[in-house]
Amino acid sequence: MAIYFDSAATTQLDEQVMEAMVNCMKEEVGNPSSTHSFGRKAKNKVENCRREIAAHLGAQPSEIIFTSCGTESDNMTIKCAIDDLGVTRIISSEIEHKAVLTTVKVLAGDKVTIDYVKVNEAGEVDLDHLEELLSSSDKKTLVTLMHANNEIGTILPMKKVGDLCKTYKAYFHSDTVQTVGHFPINFEEMGVHFAACSAHKIHGPQGVGFLYLNKKIALNSMLIGGGQERGLRAGTENLIGITGLTKSIELAYKTLDKDKAYILELRNYMKEQLIAQFGDQIRFNGSETDYLYTVLSVCFPNNENNGLLLFKLDMKGIALSGGSACNSGANLGSHVINGIYENASDYAPMRISFSKHNTKEEIDTCIEALKELVELNETT
Ligand SMILES: Cc1ncc(COP(=O)(O)O)c(C=O)c1O
Repeated sequence: MAIYFDSAATTQLDEQVMEAMVNCMKEEVGNPSSTHSFGRKAKNKVENCRREIAAHLGAQPSEIIFTSCGTESDNMTIKCAIDDLGVTRIISSEIEHKAVLTTVKVLAGDKVTIDYVKVNEAGEVDLDHLEELLSSSDKKTLVTLMHANNEIGTILPMKKVGDLCKTYKAYFHSDTVQTVGHFPINFEEMGVHFAACSAHKIHGPQGVGFLYLNKKIALNSMLIGGGQERGLRAGTENLIGITGLTKSIELAYKTLDKDKAYILELRNYMKEQLIAQFGDQIRFNGSETDYLYTVLSVCFPNNENNGLLLFKLDMKGIALSGGSACNSGANLGSHVINGIYENASDYAPMRISFSKHNTKEEIDTCIEALKELVELNETT
């Protein structure tokens, strides 16, 4: 039996999402930019999707810009904030997703400086330090901090960060890829200017997402070409993907409370079973109080055997990840674990991420496999 515990990397496509996409493939032939009836019909569909998504997220339809993925939305924000808004300073953290972290590093240089806000061992941002950084310079600043960490699940107090950014007149971007569809979201109330979403984290298709762009902000397109998305994102809209994205958001919010309760129960059960089996030889990562319920991150003692744990579990048909899935399959360790622990090399991290399709029986099977495979440290 194959067991999938890697839904923070990507989720299984929902049947109803698939059906909506197949119907779209059958019914729509027009290019949304064409002025004839086929084009107008396709354009209408894109605009209906935009309206529906905005209504779920405390946004106005014009604030939703369809993109090809979460990475593109993050990239566009950071690049355009520098090019179009005159940002010369970025405040971020060392534990952001690579879509932000690498972009920020690549774009930093003579004109743009980066400051990293301190995070504690739970991955919680030090808000006093953030305020200190914000108040220490009057350069035009972009703060980019993710809503929920995709590896350890720690959640950012969005409103507090939004308020600080407002006080110090900084732009606020948040990567909300792991939270849209998993939590009630109101971008306006959170005080973000930019936020990123990706359909494939919520049982939608890979290769489509959106950028939330607050109406007060004027940017240019990062891509050069046609005037699609009101000039903000050149390229023919991915109508089939947008249809799938919209359906996945609609379904996620329809059953959010039920799915959340079920997934939380699975997470708690997995945690109890791990503690019962491995006791104080393991360490759970991330916040104990404010966390993403779909993710449980745990460290085993690092040794030659446990370094191969994920591979050995995979051989038994159990899919988990060490950190994020975004190093193109390369196992480079976890920059998040490195960013929060001084002695990161003592740990072999494992991210167990759940969806509504997992079961307690799968957890029992995984625990049995771990019992067989994990090598514990000698205790005296
Ligand atoms: C927090 C976070 N940001 C961004 C991304 C990238 O999203 P996409 O795969 O749509 O580019 C991911 C996906 O792994 C993620 O978890």
